[in-house]
Amino acid sequence: MRTRGWADYALLDSGNGRKLERYGCFTVVRPEPQCLWAPALPASAWEAADAVFDPTDEEDAGRWKLKGQAASLGNGEAWPLGWGEVKFNGRFTSFRHLAFFPEQAANWEWLDAAVRAAGPQPKVLNLFGYTGVASLAMAKAGAAVTHVDASKRAVTWARENAELSGLSTIRWIVEDAKKFVAREVRRGSKYEGIILDPPKYGRGPDGEVWRLFEDLPELAGLCTELLSENAKFLVLNAYAERISGAALSGLLADKLKGRGGRIEWGELALVQEDGAREIGMSFFARWSA
Ligand SMILES: C[S@@+](CC[C@H](N)C(=O)[O-])C[C@H]1O[C@@H](n2cnc3c(N)ncnc32)[C@H](O)[C@@H]1O
Repeated sequence: MRTRGWADYALLDSGNGRKLERYGCFTVVRPEPQCLWAPALPASAWEAADAVFDPTDEEDAGRWKLKGQAASLGNGEAWPLGWGEVKFNGRFTSFRHLAFFPEQAANWEWLDAAVRAAGPQPKVLNLFGYTGVASLAMAKAGAAVTHVDASKRAVTWARENAELSGLSTIRWIVEDAKKFVAREVRRGSKYEGIILDPPKYGRGPDGEVWRLFEDLPELAGLCTELLSENAKFLVLNAYAERISGAALSGLLADKLKGRGGRIEWGELALVQEDGAREIGMSFFARWSA
């Protein structure tokens, strides 16, 4: 599935192991080792960027070099961005991203349609929800959203984003995703839609360890127990290197055996502004009733 740019986001160019993007008023250069080709724009376009991410290790950590207006933002200060009516903050995080994942716009669009088609105020669950743009998109479409993330700071940012978007109905939970889901199963809670976008490795608020390959099968199984009889969707997304859309689809097929509906899977890709290149970013599988 392809994400093309929108008013507040564009993939301007890519190449030589980097990408050049625009986030609202700022242009940004970030490492992207899979861009094995030569850039299309002249070096001057890249040199004019407001922010360049300088990685300090092989994971995602590093430092931003900021100039101009970007440099005048205080440490951790945000600037407003939007995707249609959904408003959220951009931030230069120390993990190379800008506090949301633009390629997810293809999923937001799909979720928006799925929620609108699901009848009045469907209950939906967003696990590993981070700064909440998917939660906001589903809430704007009319869903009663429960948003779960282990990080207090991520949920604080998500709440700020909800306020910017004029949304006050989302239920915010700071908890380990597995613990939360296990408790919801014991309570007999049900949802019409679930999305989960787990990292390869993470920690719950009490140090609970999350490992994608070890923990996703059990969590996906528990999630299927939370689906109501009228449930409309279950979406898995993952960024890990050894995962694939086909693997996520196989897991969904296993856990949803006998439930009917259909499963589609693929890769989320950012499309460069000139249409000449695409960058594969993450994998997804989606069940819909
Ligand atoms: C890849 S990001 C999710 C991106 C998000 N879906 C989005 O589109 O913006 C992973 C998130 O998982 C959270 N996380 C990591 N371990 C967790 C755990 N054990 N339980 C709940 N959330 C966890 C992190 O705090 C982080 O916000």
